Amino acid sequence: MENSYSSLIPEPCAIALFGVTGHLSRHKILPAFYDLFHRGMLPAGFALVGFARREWSQEEFALWAKGEIRENCRTEFDEGVFSLLAPHFYFSKGTFGDEGSFEALKEEMGKAAGEQGAKGKMFYLSIPPASFPQVVEMLKRGGLADPKDPFRKVVIEKPFGWDLESAKSLDSLLASAFSPSQVFRVDHYLGKEMVQNLLPLRFENPVFSALWSSECVDHVEISVAESAGVEGRAAYYEKAGAARDVLQNHLMQLLALTAMEKPENGESEREKKVEALKSCSVSDLKRTSARGQYSAGFASGRFVRGYREEPGVDPLSLADTFAALKVEVNTPRWEGAPFYLRTGKRLAKRSAEVALVLKRPLAASFLPGGEEDCVTFKIQPGEGVWAKFSSKAPGKEILRGALMGFSYREEFAEGSPEAYENLVMDAMLGKSSLFPSEEETELSWKITDELEGFWRREPSTLEFYEAGSWGPSSAERLMERDGRKWRKL
Ligand code: BG6
Repeated sequence: MENSYSSLIPEPCAIALFGVTGHLSRHKILPAFYDLFHRGMLPAGFALVGFARREWSQEEFALWAKGEIRENCRTEFDEGVFSLLAPHFYFSKGTFGDEGSFEALKEEMGKAAGEQGAKGKMFYLSIPPASFPQVVEMLKRGGLADPKDPFRKVVIEKPFGWDLESAKSLDSLLASAFSPSQVFRVDHYLGKEMVQNLLPLRFENPVFSALWSSECVDHVEISVAESAGVEGRAAYYEKAGAARDVLQNHLMQLLALTAMEKPENGESEREKKVEALKSCSVSDLKRTSARGQYSAGFASGRFVRGYREEPGVDPLSLADTFAALKVEVNTPRWEGAPFYLRTGKRLAKRSAEVALVLKRPLAASFLPGGEEDCVTFKIQPGEGVWAKFSSKAPGKEILRGALMGFSYREEFAEGSPEAYENLVMDAMLGKSSLFPSEEETELSWKITDELEGFWRREPSTLEFYEAGSWGPSSAERLMERDGRKWRKL
């Protein structure tokens, strides 16, 4: 019988990390490797080759990485553990446009693989999207890509294109160098524990599966609210905005996971998500979307500047820092139960969740009172599931809202891995379900393009909201038109 522990350990692998000195690598990717190593999850034959412009020796790279990991790792930082990990770190100096740099990288990866006994090769592109085509082209020309090698992979960070057209051209570029099974497009929300738990919770528990349709559900709300502002990423965000940055990927993936049917007879999760995304439609965007930008205000207990005053932002910027959208999922399961998506920066609080808002009983109420019942799958902070229902108040003949809950922190002794630990691990194992497929990405772009196109034609839809609030009033109106209200997060 297969040992279940060993089946969780990937094949020995040499990984080239492009953009190793960038924010994401320092804060998430490098710490994820340390945390996995600390938990004994990495294969012995593992090598990480940093690729950057710096003049670093292998030792200097490891020393720099140690500082970043110490600050950002999830598990406790332990000198002894790091000293065992450090010999797996290699460095290759280079620039994206230089063929010689890719020859040197090939050599360094060969050396690393030889010394560590690594069989596979992975290229992790944590770089600005404008550089993707150049790097993929260089990997191809330099003989580093090989579509026939089952142990070769490429991992691509978001954003995957700026619209459907650019995503498609990126897809065809990737297809010229890698086979589809070698490509892993990152959406880090899919690595979050609670997001991974959505399908098991729903399909393994009659208590949830029984209510998972418009028979019981009035509407679904999916929110990714952030209290932080643009945080020094103006150059990217000015071009992206909230809809491209979060709605196109994280929100659409959460929608697909919530709306999809159960995979049967060998069907994959990805296929079922594609079906769900294909059945999505938006209409009358003037009434069903909201677009905002934060102005100065009090957020997280202090006065913060408005988006247009952030360093690097155009003082007349029209970028959206808030986006809300009503989506219809045209399947028998969801007929009449719309999905409302919203995301924003500098909102009153940081919170991400999927909420099934339940129908009130049609028949005359047993008792007066009672509020909207709801089942919330809280992604962060404080992962868990919360059911709000109506209960008779003690000593009175009225209904009151009551809460029933499951909190990860209280239920499980072990802490949840960081999303990037799960993602890095699954990419190494070659498990694709945590990574959106080409079709999923393109279908999500189709919806986002419709929204962006409408907003481009109607620039006056942009409305300011005070930092620390819940977004523009157009978002409230969107719900009011349907006789509904956003939930309090
Ligand atoms: C990223 C976006 O994909 O997700 C960021 O580019 C956003 O703008 C982030 O802040 C939110 O992720 P998390 O894990 O902090 O909810």
